[in-house]
Amino acid sequence: MSHPGSLSPVDSTEPLPDFPQQRRCPYQPAPGYRELRQRGPVVRARLYDGRPTWVVLGHAEARTLLIDSRLSSDWSRPDFPSPSARRKAILTATMLIGMDPPEHTAYRRRVISAFSVRRTRELTEEIQRRAGELVDAMLAKGPDADVLRDLALPVSSYTICGILGVPYEDHDYFEKQSAQLVSPQVSPEEVGQALLNLRGYLTELVDRKERETEPGPGLLDTLVHEDLADGSLSREEVIRLGIILLMTGHETTASMITLSVFTLLQNPEHLAVFRAGPDKAALAVEELLRYLSIGDVVMRVAAADIEIGDLTIREGDSVMLSMAEINRDPDAFADPDRLDLERGARHHVGFGFGVHQCIGQNLARAEVQSALTALFDRIPDLRLAVPAEQVEIKPAHSGVQGIYALPVAW
Ligand code: HEM
Repeated sequence: MSHPGSLSPVDSTEPLPDFPQQRRCPYQPAPGYRELRQRGPVVRARLYDGRPTWVVLGHAEARTLLIDSRLSSDWSRPDFPSPSARRKAILTATMLIGMDPPEHTAYRRRVISAFSVRRTRELTEEIQRRAGELVDAMLAKGPDADVLRDLALPVSSYTICGILGVPYEDHDYFEKQSAQLVSPQVSPEEVGQALLNLRGYLTELVDRKERETEPGPGLLDTLVHEDLADGSLSREEVIRLGIILLMTGHETTASMITLSVFTLLQNPEHLAVFRAGPDKAALAVEELLRYLSIGDVVMRVAAADIEIGDLTIREGDSVMLSMAEINRDPDAFADPDRLDLERGARHHVGFGFGVHQCIGQNLARAEVQSALTALFDRIPDLRLAVPAEQVEIKPAHSGVQGIYALPVAW
């Protein structure tokens, strides 16, 4: 679907910078992005496969583009771009995030009530209790703890299991499959296998739920016993909704909790905020969402020509949005590189913007706040157990920025 005026390798007279680029510090955007920003709010770069792309770094431009229906999220389009070969293998597998309205709207409507503010409020006490228990278990076991393994993953998996009606006993299995999807050690074929395994798991679970005469309280139970039963969703649709919600529901929040702890331990002057009451803690979480931007690299393709400033994005062009840079745009946030836990800037795009804005954002806020409060309240002298430089950063293209483990002691 390339257009005569599209970005193409022959458009460029100088070599284009790579996008995405690897973070050097887990909580700072890749250093090379500053040079990109100096070129403008929407610039040209090159993807791993040599394909040119637009990269959006400006906050105003991002918000304009993310509500423009000519910018497509349809991952099934042959011209849909990918930031890596591994990510391309995942691009076949999804609902919601990889679809455009009206199809997208219809699916989103079926699942949204499970993630409402009211539903989250009902769950918050339970999440807090669980986070407290996990921190107590860390304390009981003694140093040699890993924040990702011992707190962040179990809080996130436990919560999304509860919402969906997935048995928590199975968490090792689906966490392992999801981890494969972002591991730098695995090939695109192994990514494909991990997706097949997740599909197999969800297929069995849906079958089992169909046989149950008393539906449980989870979202999957509702989808099976109402939408599948009356024919408004197919089995395939229910399975694919289950896969995307299970994957996005634990991986993202676990990464956010872990990276937040790392960032705060590196900036310990801020730690007291989590002992200063829920209002301050909520503000702090909002700033961490802006500052860390773990959902970096949002992908789109232009479905028609789009004018933005004095540029024309042509039909078929790749458009990548760097949420990390957009959230550090000095025109939108004063002194953007400063971590200011009282900033109160809710116009960040840490959860995206427009029709695809994160469905789990209320839940994620509650989980992150509960986990950080439990941790810093109960272990005030928490510290890193390894030098910060030894903490391994996930690859830039993995979709969720983060680290693989966070060893701590006290
Ligand atoms: C701190 C944690 C989280 C962050 C930073 C985050 C970030 C994001 C971002 C940036 C998007 C927009 C993607 C785009 O526009 O292409 C998104 C969408 C989405 N998120 Fe999250 N997310 C988090 C937690 C969660 C949780 C807990 C769930 C629970 C299931 C979830 C489910 C989803 C889904 C299903 C979408 C796609 C929505 C749609 O296309 O309509 N996320 N998230």
